[in-house]
Amino acid sequence: MRDLVVYYSQGGNTAYAAEALARLLDADLLRVEPEKSYPSKGFAKFFWGGKSSVMAEAPVLRPYSFQAAEIDRVIIGFPVWAGSFAPPIRTFLRENRKVLAGKRVAAFACQSGSGAERAFGKLRENLGGRELDATLILVDPRDKPSPENENRLRDFARRLGL
Ligand SMILES: Cc1cc2nc3c(=O)[nH]c(=O)nc-3n(C[C@H](O)[C@H](O)[C@H](O)COP(=O)(O)O)c2cc1C
Repeated sequence: MRDLVVYYSQGGNTAYAAEALARLLDADLLRVEPEKSYPSKGFAKFFWGGKSSVMAEAPVLRPYSFQAAEIDRVIIGFPVWAGSFAPPIRTFLRENRKVLAGKRVAAFACQSGSGAERAFGKLRENLGGRELDATLILVDPRDKPSPENENRLRDFARRLGL
């Protein structure tokens, strides 16, 4: 079973988790990035990111590539934005609909409070209503390291067959 961990991370928390998972699962890693970065500070960060999420935008991504034919499972990681997944993930889902239809899919979310369950619901809708193999919710895993986050991360990797 060959895995791809694909993720978007604005502040580094999702990146931290994605890198840890890729190490545990010996997976390929793909970070997607919008061409036009979201503001990363102050009020603008929450305003523009939140608006983009609520409006269900699909921002243009910087060029990326991955070995689609060699991958059996895609693990999608994102920060929760206004109770949904961060919009760059929507673009990835749209651009890879056919590829994803032929793979197993799991997902993980980073949040500071709540909304991840709703975000997984939105993700499932965007995957044509299919179920996810496994899900994982972490609370700001890089900024707020905790035994809970580490245990959940290892548990998730185990469920995926580590
Ligand atoms: C625009 C925006 C909206 C957010 N909305 C939520 C939210 O609805 N619920 C929540 O718990 N955290 C929310 N957060 C916090 C992030 O999901 C959380 O800090 C996450 O760990 C950040 O991941 P990153 O460092 O990989 O970007 C939001 C952050 C931003 C920038």
